[in-house]
Parts: sequence; structure tokens; C-alpha cells
Amino acid sequence: MNPLYKTLPLMGTLLASTILANNKSNIDINHYNTFIPKEIWKDNHGVHINAHGGGVIFDPKTEQYYWFGEHKIAGDAGNKAHVGVHCYSSKDLCNWKDEGIALPVSDDPESPITKECILERPKVIYNPVTDKYVMWFHLERKGRGYLSAHSGVAIADKVTGPYQFLHAGRINPGKWPIGMPEDQKKPLDKPFDDKNHYNQGEYTLIRRDFEGGQMARDMTLFIDQDGKAYHIYSSEENNTTHIAELTPDFTAHTGKYVRIFHNRLMEAPTLFKKGDQYYFIGSGCTGWAPNAARSGIASHILGPWKELANPCQGNDANITFGGQSTYVLPVEGKKDTFIFMADEWKPNNAIDGRYIWLPIEFDGDQPILNYKKTWSLNKD
Ligand code: DGJ
Repeated sequence: MNPLYKTLPLMGTLLASTILANNKSNIDINHYNTFIPKEIWKDNHGVHINAHGGGVIFDPKTEQYYWFGEHKIAGDAGNKAHVGVHCYSSKDLCNWKDEGIALPVSDDPESPITKECILERPKVIYNPVTDKYVMWFHLERKGRGYLSAHSGVAIADKVTGPYQFLHAGRINPGKWPIGMPEDQKKPLDKPFDDKNHYNQGEYTLIRRDFEGGQMARDMTLFIDQDGKAYHIYSSEENNTTHIAELTPDFTAHTGKYVRIFHNRLMEAPTLFKKGDQYYFIGSGCTGWAPNAARSGIASHILGPWKELANPCQGNDANITFGGQSTYVLPVEGKKDTFIFMADEWKPNNAIDGRYIWLPIEFDGDQPILNYKKTWSLNKD
């Protein structure tokens, strides 16, 4: 072979990395004026933002927003965690600076967060009493599919990390939910029928998991005005959503929890407060495929919750415009202004997943989502 052919790929690689290196320093951080759902969303390095299933917090110390999400790699391998939780910062929510990996997965095969575990939907909150940033995430132990249904927690002194992994496991072992009928507070009297998950009685799964702790998969966090924090997650084989109170340092559960939207099979929970009302937006359960969003309202965080309608309107309202909820972000300093954050999943090439951020409108108590090709906080 002509030696030139041998060196060409190498030259191509060198050229590509030089362009990338130059781009890294050259991209103007303020290149976006609008949100453009489903488009490639470039960070300050010109690279598509890699923070899937994420959440955003406003940090009062730095007066900036921080977006945390799953760092995905290419192909369907990207549906497992190979890198960790990625963090980005922003002043205006449109332009994001890469802050690196806040919580890396571990090279230690014994670690619960070892490489190739499933680590999804990380959310970070700040605890003003301990002065720590606390990250919770859905964790599936390596090689066990989605059977572990664990939650993990990590803490940091700085919002961008590094986050130190503390522990992971099922939730509230040995605790019954608020409202559990006294005559149901007993272990299952016959073995659980694995082929017939949803038809074995209202409290079967709670009873099955009482001793080892309740399942938790898709999740979010919410801090109420009184400073108490809550973990909201899909439990009972995704059949029923739970809201569980966190301890004052936010790193564990107090044992107080409620079951909401019984047997409604929901995922991707989000929770926010407008005025005196609490609102929920979530999804149904269809794997990576989009489905119709759900919504709900309550006057107290622990319920009772009332299910409302699909908040989406217009074309593709029945599939959440191709996305699935991940977080609702209250915009700092703008009363009653909320951004609905959703993922457009690409399970065959996970790194290419897109983001659908939309403004939340209200029709009375009903949250409303209309798709917009492009929009900005100033104009909407
Ligand atoms: C839907 C969930 O919302 C995602 O977070 C992920 O767990 C997929 N299911 C896996 O199929």
C-alpha cells in the first residue's frame, strides 16, 4: 500500500483534534438567545450537552444555574453508565458551560456505582444547614437489569463537585406508608406471583417489599418552603408513585412516605409549587418510547393528590411531543415562571438524545404545555 494512505487517517485524526481543540477555546459562550427543542444544544466547547434525565438547580452562592444529567456514550451501550453525572453551569439557561463530571462512576467492581451500572435521573439540591450539595439518583446494580430499583446519594462541598458517593439501596425498609390499613400491615401470606404483578391486591407490592425496602426507579427531588426535602419516585414495579420525606441533612429517608396515583403506572415524575398548590407532571410507562404525559395537583405535598389531564396540547400531544419529563425548573426571580424539561431519548445512540424545554402555562389549575420550535424567556 502507498505509505501515504497509511498516514492519511492519522493526519485526519490530528486535523480533527486540532479543530476540536481550537473550537474548545473559540466558541462564544453566549451563542444562544432562544431555546430550540430537539436541536443539537452546544455547550461552550461546541459539543452537544450531555446531561440526560437531568435536573437544574439555581445556586444562591454563585447566582448561576447548574444542570446535572446522565453522561451518555454512543450506541446502545450508552444506556448504561460508563462515565457518570455531567454538570454544566449557566447564567441565562440558554448558554451552558461544561463543568465536567460531578460524580464519576467507579472502576472498583465492588462499588455500587461501578462502570456499567445503570445510573439515571440524577437531581441535586442544596442543604443550607449542612452547607452541602446533595445528589440523589436512580441506581441499578451492574448486570441485574432493572431489578435492583435502588436509590443512591452523594454529597459535595461545591455545587460542581466532586461528589462523594455515600450509599445506595431500597427505601424505608420496615416502614409502612401513611394511610396503610392496619389489617394490611403484615407480610405476604403466599409467595408473590411474578407473572401477575398488578392484580394481586392494592397493597401486595408494599407488603412484599416491606422488609427489604421499597423499590424506587425514575425520580426527582423537591424542597418545600419550610426547608423539608422530598424524594418522589416510581415504586411498586412502577405501579404507584411515592413521595418520601428526607432527613434534615437530605441524605436519608425519615420513614414518612405516601403512595399517590395508585396503580396508574407512571414514570419520570416532576413536582413543583405555584402559590399554595403542588403540581405533578410525569409520564406513563413505555420504556424509551414516548407516551402521553400525566399531571396532578395537591394542596399538601403528602396529598391527597388529584390526577388532572394530559398537560400537552396540539400535534403530538399524545406522545409529549416525542419527549418524556425529567424536571420542572422554577425560573429564579420570575414569579410563576416554570420550564418543563423533557428528554427526547435516542436509545440506539444514547449520546444523541435531545432536550425539549417548554414554558408551562396554566388554564385555571391545569398546567398546559404547547410545543414551540423556538422560544425565549423574555418573549414568553
Ligand atoms: C423509562 C425511564 O423513564 C427512563 O429513565 C429509563 O429507565 C427507561 N425507561 C428504560 O427503558
